[in-house]
Amino acid sequence: MVEEELLCEAALAGDCRKVRDLVAAGADVSYFDGEGLTPLMHAAKHGHADIVKTLLEFGAPWNALSPSNLSAGDIAMDSGHQDTFDLLLNAGIQAELVLGTIARTKDKNGSDLGMNYLEDRVVFSEDRLMDSNSKAIMMAWEKPLMEAHARAVCSGNGDIINIGFGMGLVDTAIQQYKPRTHTIVEAHPEVYDRMLRSGWGEKDNVKIVFGRWQDVLPQLESYDGIFFDTYGEYYEDLREFHQHLPKLLKPGGIYSFFNGLCGGNAFFHVVYCQLVSLELESLGFSTQFIPLPVKDCLGEEVWEGVKHKYWQLDTYYLPVCQEASGSE
Ligand SMILES: C[S@@+](CC[C@H](N)C(=O)[O-])C[C@H]1O[C@@H](n2cnc3c(N)ncnc32)[C@H](O)[C@@H]1O
Repeated sequence: MVEEELLCEAALAGDCRKVRDLVAAGADVSYFDGEGLTPLMHAAKHGHADIVKTLLEFGAPWNALSPSNLSAGDIAMDSGHQDTFDLLLNAGIQAELVLGTIARTKDKNGSDLGMNYLEDRVVFSEDRLMDSNSKAIMMAWEKPLMEAHARAVCSGNGDIINIGFGMGLVDTAIQQYKPRTHTIVEAHPEVYDRMLRSGWGEKDNVKIVFGRWQDVLPQLESYDGIFFDTYGEYYEDLREFHQHLPKLLKPGGIYSFFNGLCGGNAFFHVVYCQLVSLELESLGFSTQFIPLPVKDCLGEEVWEGVKHKYWQLDTYYLPVCQEASGSE
């Protein structure tokens, strides 16, 4: 039997000493056995926290995926092993803080960016807005989420801003709260054109700013409520936007963003929720995640004709951020 098979067996059996000996003798910690599982996944499944710790120290990949798309963290979570889960979560956060291998190189929907979306054509239909690669920019199933985001950012009413118009779902919901001012930033010429044709430019309290948020920042003021939901951007862009929050958000204001981070994997999603909340904390903001069940609005038919299924989880965690001192 090859050393790696023995390593998987030792990890499954909880034999920490044997794991150490095998790894020290050169056994490959990133090995996948016949079932497509790594030694780390075996240890996670049985809650062997000491072995998980050892394997991680020896460089076992925390983000490897089994054939059914589960990471060691998912397996620990599903098996109810809290200690093991915490170790893996911590490893994931540390690794992403330094390397950013998962979401940093992907757009908000988890796809690789291969083109400049803003120069590309878009296709509107009743229940979706698509790019020319059959990837969904926005879909109608998100309507209840957008309504919940609008409720959160409009809780103090006043001056509200939304970055990214898409299908106008969140903006339609924001309008129901009759904010004093409602600014909308949109960068895609066809989306902008459609906004104008559907009368958004004539609403009394609405101000449309056409351009990339990165380019129009000098035209922006400060707001009581901010919502951010762009497309075709990296996690790094969201992070960059967060650097401007201290200036953009009025004291006591509420900030929220579309939380599609790693929406294809439950454990990676938890890692990114923690990561984004740590990053916001370093800027002086506290973040609360409100769980919203989405399973019922997401039948398989929703994804017909869509190339990338950007959301596969049963619960959506709606972020509500505010100045840390304001939330005490
Ligand atoms: C996912 S959609 C927004 C959906 C919207 N929340 C709704 O409720 O329908 C993203 C929008 O952001 C726009 N966008 C992409 N990059 C942008 C940028 N850098 N600045 C401003 N808007 C951008 C896209 O053109 C698109 O209309």
